[in-house]
Amino acid sequence: MEHYDLVIIGSGPGGYVAAIRGAQLGYKTVLIEKYNTLGGTCTNVGCIPTKAILDSTHHYHEAVHHFATHGIMANELSVDFGQLYTRKDKVVLQNTQGLNFLMRKNKVAVIHGTASFVDHTTLRVVKEDNGTDLIQGSNIIIATGSKPATIPGVVIDKKRVITSTEALSLKQQPKSLVIIGGGVIGVEMASIFNRLGTAITIIEYADHLLANMDHELGTGLRKILSNDGIRILLQQAVYKVENLGDTAKVSFKDRVGQIQEIEADYVLVAVGRSPYTEGLGLENTAVELDVRGAILTNDRLQTAVPNIYAIGDVIGGAMLAHKAEEEALFVVEQINGQKPKIHYDQIPAVVYTWPEVASVGFTEEELKAKGVNYTIGSFPFSANARARAGMDTQGFVKVLADPVYGELLGVHVLGARAVDLIAQAVVGLAYEITADSMARISYAHPTYSEGMKEAHTIASGRPSINI
Ligand code: FAD
Ligand code: NAI
Repeated sequence: MEHYDLVIIGSGPGGYVAAIRGAQLGYKTVLIEKYNTLGGTCTNVGCIPTKAILDSTHHYHEAVHHFATHGIMANELSVDFGQLYTRKDKVVLQNTQGLNFLMRKNKVAVIHGTASFVDHTTLRVVKEDNGTDLIQGSNIIIATGSKPATIPGVVIDKKRVITSTEALSLKQQPKSLVIIGGGVIGVEMASIFNRLGTAITIIEYADHLLANMDHELGTGLRKILSNDGIRILLQQAVYKVENLGDTAKVSFKDRVGQIQEIEADYVLVAVGRSPYTEGLGLENTAVELDVRGAILTNDRLQTAVPNIYAIGDVIGGAMLAHKAEEEALFVVEQINGQKPKIHYDQIPAVVYTWPEVASVGFTEEELKAKGVNYTIGSFPFSANARARAGMDTQGFVKVLADPVYGELLGVHVLGARAVDLIAQAVVGLAYEITADSMARISYAHPTYSEGMKEAHTIASGRPSINI
């Protein structure tokens, strides 16, 4: 039986970052992954393929809708759906091969197979050819991620009732698609297919899109996506979906309790994801789960068994790749005797619609609920010179700051390049910089980042120069 200092189960952004950091710190490390490729949900069926297709469809949408205004005549454009997906597959391959290279470079052992606990230090790994390895670890990190969740009355059959995973391997562009859930996956998937000409309906239970983010973001995005032709139904309760062979039918109660039905080529279920622990053999350990099935940890991300840690989607919280990565570094550096920290309240959320959405810190709704006073600095991109030059004037920056000390409380952006702009706000929050100090540094002109400067200026109590 091979013994390792560090055993990691699952090779997503949590697992592969933990493996590399462990090897960098001199630990004999093994990474176990049940699929043939490394990278987990994010690299194979999540962050990377969706962003690849979002970029492709954005180019197409720009060409069809905006090129002529720029004076560029590109007539008779069409989409080769197969090529669009082939390019996406190549991008995924580049990333998974990159991970293979990084594992070799860092001398991380990789085993492809399904790991399950035999006891607190021993794992059985069953490989594709049914061969079995027994391995032992001084420290074990569970990074097994999550899988799509569903709701009562909705069975995901992966044929007509699908998730984002199946949507990423369709052979043909659907003519119509109903998406249950107006969260992050819902709006990203709606954007992809709407830009290609698929008729999209989003059915959301809450009264806002992106209900967990500052409500002004969801309200603004809803207007923009509606103008783009996406049908958005809020406060509707889906109770049944049926596979009708060539189509699927979704039944829901509308705001006044009337039963409604919509038929479409596919129904895509995007109502959240659940922690994935199936087949891990946790019953052979003292590791505990919470009511949602997430692995319970203490604030050191240690399970009830001191040498077994858990990170990423499988412990719940924000299900984000960069949150999993932070937790990976946190656990490995702690094992190494260092004193790392994670600031969960400073982890940004990003949504790759167009315009993009990004957010960090408290929302206005959260501040109201806590009874915390705040000032608001809001600046529209329609008043930003760079945005006007590029014809990307939709959206705004909204800064929430402490009215007495000026400390940043939250920054929320709907606009072109929002997901990159938000990094500056993260620095502001992390170093407790005031809105005034954020406003008094120089921003290159003309840039979208000047929208951040203006919003910080207003939040600090001074008038904007540009509105
Ligand atoms: P995962 O990436 O889920 O990796 C877990 C791995 O463990 C999997 O490869 C699985 O096969 C393996 N595994 C499970 N059980 C076993 C076992 N018993 N033995 C061996 N291996 C096992 N997040 C962002 O931050 N930005 C985005 O743009 C973004 N886009 C997304 C788009 C979509 C469509 C989806 C679905 C998710 C997206 N996410 C995004 C979320 C992100 O993918 C996850 O938060 C992230 O992958 C979690 O990382 P993880 O390491 O915890 O788990
Ligand atoms: P989500 O939690 O973002 O959204 C789910 C939505 O479904 C919610 O708005 C909820 O109100 C709605 N819903 C729940 N039950 C419903 C019902 N019965 N009828 C109608 N609507 C219902 O989850 P989502 O979009 O599935 O994404 C899963 C995870 O993946 C998220 O945690 C997200 O962080 C991550 N992700 C991140 C991305 C990014 O960072 N850009 C992109 C895609 C996913």
